[in-house]
Amino acid sequence: MDWKGRDVISVRDFSKEDIEFLLKVAERLEKELEEKGSLDYAGGKILATLFFEPSTRTRMSFESAMHRLGGSVIGFSSAATTSVRKGESLADTVRTVEQYSDVIVIRHPMEGAARLAAEMVEVPIINAGDGSNQHPTQTLLDLYTIKRAFGRIDGLKIGLLGDLKYGRTVHSLAEALAFYDVGLYLISPRLLRMPRHIIEELHERGVEIHETTDLEGTIPELDLLYVTRIQRERFPDEEEYLKVKGSYQVNRRTLEKATEKLKIMHPLPRVDEIHPEVDRSGHALYFRQVFSGVPVRMALLGLTLRVL
Ligand code: CP
Repeated sequence: MDWKGRDVISVRDFSKEDIEFLLKVAERLEKELEEKGSLDYAGGKILATLFFEPSTRTRMSFESAMHRLGGSVIGFSSAATTSVRKGESLADTVRTVEQYSDVIVIRHPMEGAARLAAEMVEVPIINAGDGSNQHPTQTLLDLYTIKRAFGRIDGLKIGLLGDLKYGRTVHSLAEALAFYDVGLYLISPRLLRMPRHIIEELHERGVEIHETTDLEGTIPELDLLYVTRIQRERFPDEEEYLKVKGSYQVNRRTLEKATEKLKIMHPLPRVDEIHPEVDRSGHALYFRQVFSGVPVRMALLGLTLRVL
């Protein structure tokens, strides 16, 4: 199966070969961009970005990627100024936007919204996050960042820390890491454990999993710590959020027991789960991770648009 004209809804829809191919294309585009400054693969093509939820990185890196490919961008960053406010359905919104664009990127608070949109239109739909469910393009840029930093994914011991219940980035990432030979350490408060269906899937796929609440005891084991924000906006009840607020912070003291080679990633935005003093350490990989969003999304757009 190749990427041409495909929807990108969930990492479950892709094989390891699909992912590895996309990462190779992203690496080639990053080099080409360095050499030439700008590219013209997508001249005349239009990307529509439909963001029903806030975003800085995902929306802007998709836009940057499309511009760097030589294409153009339309869209909205909040449904408040669109006809959704008049009661227009998601189905009618995407059917309308399809008339104006060649590929649609959508972020929506409802799980399954991207899949629903994909069933309504012919142009490729790319899921930029649907509720607590999936964030597949974040996972692709995460894998790219890991490969660039370590030269490999196999053999790594990787900790996923924080809100493993509502954090869509860690759901997608854990499922993609199951393609590789990794040890996974799931570190969270008991209230925010990884959903059981994902744990069962990981077990079935032979992933070595350790679940714990103990960050400091686990840090010495790790090559990579992937930190997440507690997703306040997804809690049905503020009382429940207050029970787990501020559960973990990665700071200079926490890192005393880390090996020198430990790298720290975070999909961002952060609140207080990584102290800014870590930014200047050799452990911080999260701004390099932000950068990876552009070549990876260039590859995604170029391949789905059939221009690469
Ligand atoms: N990582 C990520 O999805 O960031 P944004 O919410 O800013 O897009």
